[in-house]
Amino acid sequence: MAKTISVFNNKGGVGKTTIIWNLATSLADQGKKVLLIDFDAQCNLSIACLGKDQFAALLQPTPANPFGQTVKAFALPYIQQNKIGDVHVFFPKSRPGNGELHIVPGDFWLNTFSDILNVGTDVISGSGLYRFILPHLISDLAQEKNNIEYDYVLIDLPPSFNTLVRSALYCSDYFLVPCTPDMFSAYCVGLIGEMLPDFVADWEQGKARYLKTNPTDPVIPFKGVPKFGGWIFNGFDTRRVKGVKHEVGADAAHHIEIVDAIRDSMIPSLGAITSYQAIPPFVGVEPVAKIEDLNVMAPDSIIQNIPIKYLDQSSPTRTLRNRHSWAPNQIDLMRETAVEYDRLAQYIVKNF
Ligand SMILES: Nc1ncnc2c1ncn2[C@@H]1O[C@H](COP(=O)(O)OP(=O)(O)OP(=O)(O)O)[C@@H](O)[C@H]1O
Ligand SMILES: [Mg+2]
Repeated sequence: MAKTISVFNNKGGVGKTTIIWNLATSLADQGKKVLLIDFDAQCNLSIACLGKDQFAALLQPTPANPFGQTVKAFALPYIQQNKIGDVHVFFPKSRPGNGELHIVPGDFWLNTFSDILNVGTDVISGSGLYRFILPHLISDLAQEKNNIEYDYVLIDLPPSFNTLVRSALYCSDYFLVPCTPDMFSAYCVGLIGEMLPDFVADWEQGKARYLKTNPTDPVIPFKGVPKFGGWIFNGFDTRRVKGVKHEVGADAAHHIEIVDAIRDSMIPSLGAITSYQAIPPFVGVEPVAKIEDLNVMAPDSIIQNIPIKYLDQSSPTRTLRNRHSWAPNQIDLMRETAVEYDRLAQYIVKNF
């Protein structure tokens, strides 16, 4: 069975989308079959993978696809007409050397969808639990339709605690939390510890009601159990001391603050959840991956639709940098970053 992983932080711009794309590439390179679901109305993952022109075309309704070829093609008929819609999967422009990497594109309409979902009447009452496991329904149908068994389903999310985030968490086996070195990351980590137990309590209430009338349901008993898979330190700066890289002082201080928030706030709060073990034994307080500040390489990779791992095989985008090739120190950093993403993929394969 596919493992579902959400990359989540209610803080914006911490690298969720960048991490999911590069991690998925590393997982595929290790021979895994990976499905990406873009569950963010910003659709950044879809644009990074497919390019803005192909993505724009997929949004368009046609006689054959009246709701386009995005998540909306499944979600709109499901939510408005109680009908199973269509799931369309696409290959990213940059194909991994191994495995499989597919994406179900996002849609700006997800904003509207998020407004339609209702925690009180759908989750807590137990009457609409299936509306809150849409990413699961999508990945299931994608597997069936394409005759493939995914190893991993990775869900990209908006920076919020909205209903889209809830539903992705209800479907997820694990969530990873990217954090940047700044004042708010430690604070946001604490908030996750406050919010998630409430989400789980709502689910447990709804599940108990629902299972009274549907005791043999094959899916609902196994949902609503997202476990903390670890945090990722993203975008910090380093300096070399005697040839060895160290986090610069300010970023090292933020690192310590985040570790403190994980240890003193998040882990105790999630550890108090009684319906399942939300903190697996293999997770510690230190980051499970450390991705340095990539500067211009980060946006360049998105503009060119090439993950960092393969960016050294390209020329830098002219508009971003007035040179024709990457500098040796940039290539070194790309390769170090690729190694770190491969390590993160191995950690997931080993533990999740
Ligand atoms: N390690 C990094 N070094 C430098 N820039 C980065 C790094 N990771 C991400 N970025 C850049 O930071 C910006 C935000 O990254 P990204 O879109 O991945 O964050 P996000 O958490 O998904 O944002 P949102 O909350 O809006 O969904 C992008 O411009 C991206 O290119
Ligand atoms: Mg994003």
